[in-house]
Amino acid sequence: MSDLEPDTVSALEAPGFAAAQFVRWFRDVAPYVHAFRGKTFVVAFGGELVQAGALNALVQDLSLLSSLGIKLVLVHGSRPQVNEQLRLKGYTQQFDRGMAPTDAAALECAKEAAGEIRLDIEAAFSQGLPNTPMSNARVRVISGNFVTAKPAGVFDGVDYQHFGLVRKVDVDALRFATERHSIVLLSPLGFSPTGDAFNLAMEELATSVAVALRAEKLIFLTETQGVMNDDGTVDTELARVDADAMLTAGSLDEDTAFFLRYASLAVKRGVARAHLVPFTLDGSVLLEIFTHDGVGTMVVEDTLDDLRPATLDDVGAILSLIEPLETDGTLVPRPRSVIERDVERFTVLEHDGVIYGCAALYPYPENQMAELACLIVHPEWQSTGEGDLLLRHMEARARALGVKRLFALTTRTSHWFVKRGFVQGGVTDLPPQKQSAINKSRNSHIFIKRLASG
Ligand code: ARG
Repeated sequence: MSDLEPDTVSALEAPGFAAAQFVRWFRDVAPYVHAFRGKTFVVAFGGELVQAGALNALVQDLSLLSSLGIKLVLVHGSRPQVNEQLRLKGYTQQFDRGMAPTDAAALECAKEAAGEIRLDIEAAFSQGLPNTPMSNARVRVISGNFVTAKPAGVFDGVDYQHFGLVRKVDVDALRFATERHSIVLLSPLGFSPTGDAFNLAMEELATSVAVALRAEKLIFLTETQGVMNDDGTVDTELARVDADAMLTAGSLDEDTAFFLRYASLAVKRGVARAHLVPFTLDGSVLLEIFTHDGVGTMVVEDTLDDLRPATLDDVGAILSLIEPLETDGTLVPRPRSVIERDVERFTVLEHDGVIYGCAALYPYPENQMAELACLIVHPEWQSTGEGDLLLRHMEARARALGVKRLFALTTRTSHWFVKRGFVQGGVTDLPPQKQSAINKSRNSHIFIKRLASG
């Protein structure tokens, strides 16, 4: 143990620190608690999750979601368990992901496996031991004949027999249950009007249910981490068209591609957000739902970035972006009253309700010039081109006002401006009005960019 360690520990345990952390964390989570109350989430996981022993932890997290007013429909898979049954009974067939011909014996195995998993899940939701997250929890889980299936039929000459596709979801019955705070649990089996059971693919079932319910979210808990970037990090947010392009390019591993296809389909058919979340990470569902960046890959119809004119409601957020840069001297201090007065000069960059960038434009119409000021992107979000996005937008705004030359004053970021077509100028290049207002002691560099018309 190093000498430093006891100190570190005591700092963390200092009474004020832990309490402040806790309160901050709880408040950070609040916007999502408000946003998701009363919304429907479909959460789907394969039998692999159960096999990996992750069921109990998941059930604890789902119970919490339910008690926060999120309406839950769970869909479980059972493939490894069905395969196990098949093996035990001496059959050679093994199921792969997706559609699979199912004979009578395999259907029996599917029913047995589904029954067993369902009972395990119901048992897990019934825990309530003291000193566990389930203490005081009363969670009702409901299963039933909510899904009508049709036979998949014959494909490429192969009869899929008892393998089925979703024909209809009993939306009213599902809503009836979720509105009364019950969690609905669906097994990958559907029933036909002839009274037959059909083996369904868990992913198809979950997607159909999420679409039918117009769910806010479809969450697949997967073995894969999600879509990976080249540098080994997770690609956290994908516009549906980009997800489809990746699927067409065929660059993804099989498992990820498989789930991503359903996620994309769900979003295309109206589910607001579809997520691939790794079940191997404890608490991943909570991290995905209650943090801004999540831990998996989220597919949305359009990315959630938004560039828009600032309003008075944004003043607080703008101030907190500017503050650190004022403190370290990068920016001239601007009191709240000034930001409030000038708020319509600001453009903000928003992502999912969080303002992470801003810029302001101060026109000098007599000189056909404008100052670009307060161009900021929060450090955590930099390097993916947000600054350029803001700059392009401000240039367009300036052009629309008839501005021919855009200038910026900076003490620290000369390079950034030079790389983007600004050239260094002098005080006398500025509009006279600005010249007299300039704070000489800051010794800022002046950069000017000639705006091409159009
Ligand atoms: N917590 C938010 C939600 O559940 C944002 C999640 C973002 N996740 C991501 N992988 N980018 O909608």
